[in-house]
Amino acid sequence: MKGATFLSEEQYQAIARYLERCAGIRLGDGKEYLVVSRLRGVLQRHGLAGFDVLVQALQAGGSRVIQTAVVDAMTTNETFWFRDAAHYRILVEQLLPACTGRTARIWSAAASTGQEPYSITFAIQEAVLSGRLPRNFDYQVLGTDISPSALAQAEAARYCGLAGVRGLTLEQRQRFFLDDGDCIEVQAAYRRRVRFRLFNLLDAFDHLGRFDVIFCRNVLIYFSQERKRDILERFHRALNPGGALFLGSTESMSEHADLFEMERHGTGLVYRRC
Ligand SMILES: C[S@@+](CC[C@H](N)C(=O)[O-])C[C@H]1O[C@@H](n2cnc3c(N)ncnc32)[C@H](O)[C@@H]1O
Repeated sequence: MKGATFLSEEQYQAIARYLERCAGIRLGDGKEYLVVSRLRGVLQRHGLAGFDVLVQALQAGGSRVIQTAVVDAMTTNETFWFRDAAHYRILVEQLLPACTGRTARIWSAAASTGQEPYSITFAIQEAVLSGRLPRNFDYQVLGTDISPSALAQAEAARYCGLAGVRGLTLEQRQRFFLDDGDCIEVQAAYRRRVRFRLFNLLDAFDHLGRFDVIFCRNVLIYFSQERKRDILERFHRALNPGGALFLGSTESMSEHADLFEMERHGTGLVYRRC
């Protein structure tokens, strides 16, 4: 399989076009090393002789299994607990109090391995314990992602090693997890609050219902301006009046002020549906 990892310019462009079309992810130029390192395992696991065979499988009518494996391998699933901590404070202090008396619906739209949706449940529990939210505060969290392997870990809710505890305080680790020394596992009470579903943001999402808050952090940066605009318009329609959207802290919304109004609360930003 030595020649298997040779990637021609044409094959690189074909893989880049496929990712843009099917997942919205733009690779840009000069990412050949990334494609080779991430797709080498796909070639091996599926017994493909080289990138020429893989590119054939990506054509219309090709192998669904290979297509899914390619998207899965090419997504960047980097995440950690309570990432952009200000967002969780804004969630429980500024947004959720208005949902008291009914079931609040929160969507983590690029949930990756689950740290984001579970952090939402932990932040709500901390707010209930400190009296910021009422004891009977009711809510549901939906976690979606295009990556089957990331979602499998999210559903297992088990995290190992140093990367697995990144972002947690010792107190949070003790309060929200079962801990066997090597790995931590989210307690059942929090797992029950989160439902996971494989979902591509390029697809229609009317059937997911309406939400009070959407987290879509650190994914739209990979998309073209047109795709980003399309998704933001659909988020706008999916939010209840007064609903709000969180983006990653380095992402901008300046060209979409007709859809969302920026609110600053301390060090964090939230985008309120106009
Ligand atoms: C960098 S992670 C961000 C995770 C989390 N939101 C955070 O900020 O920590 C980006 C996630 O977006 C997902 N993703 C990429 N393209 C997607 C698409 N078209 N539809 C749904 N999820 C997508 C990836 O699988 C990955 O898990």
